[in-house]
Amino acid sequence: MGVTAHDEELGRVLLTDRQIADRVRQLGAEITRDYQGRDLVIVGVLKGAAAFTVDLARAVDLPVAMDWVAVSTYGRGSTPGTPRLLKDVGEDLAGRDVLVVEDILDTGTTLSWLMARLRERSPASVNCCVLLRKPHALTEPVEPRYAGFDIAEHWVAGYGIDYAERHRNLGGIHEVLLPSAASPASS
Ligand code: IMP
Ligand code: MG
Repeated sequence: MGVTAHDEELGRVLLTDRQIADRVRQLGAEITRDYQGRDLVIVGVLKGAAAFTVDLARAVDLPVAMDWVAVSTYGRGSTPGTPRLLKDVGEDLAGRDVLVVEDILDTGTTLSWLMARLRERSPASVNCCVLLRKPHALTEPVEPRYAGFDIAEHWVAGYGIDYAERHRNLGGIHEVLLPSAASPASS
């Protein structure tokens, strides 16, 4: 067959689709309260946060703009990562309230770099909302205004998040059974 079944490399379910949907609704309600009367631009980080960004935006009861960035982080686990913008926003961010939506806050390298780049565009504010946070891995001073769940330092996949580009289509978030101690590069 040549196609790996989901369950061969995945461990237990850490978060069900129901748990995620409930939390996304709560976060959407908080964002709706906090950004009343503001010009909110939701910026999703491709590809891992695509599912979360779309669901979150639909839980926000405000006329928001949506845009996307893609960032590559090189040297994960070996040399210090130097992020690079693979895809920039199309929106003019000047004077607007930017909310970056990311799948996972791990070391914080990606988000601290990305938020600094976006602050150069003269926005009124830049905050972030992360679905998952691995608090013990954080080395950069990133403080998300919104965070879905704290998890231990497992490698995870599902709900948009990949393992070697697989499993993004799963509804829930699963632990990945890594073949070795190394974490695969991801986006
Ligand atoms: P950071 O720059 O170290 O905070 O890493 C954050 C990025 O690493 C996220 O945007 C994810 O793309 C990726 N990442 C971190 N942990 C995982 C994981 O468990 N599964 C999939 N991707 C991950
Ligand atoms: Mg990512």
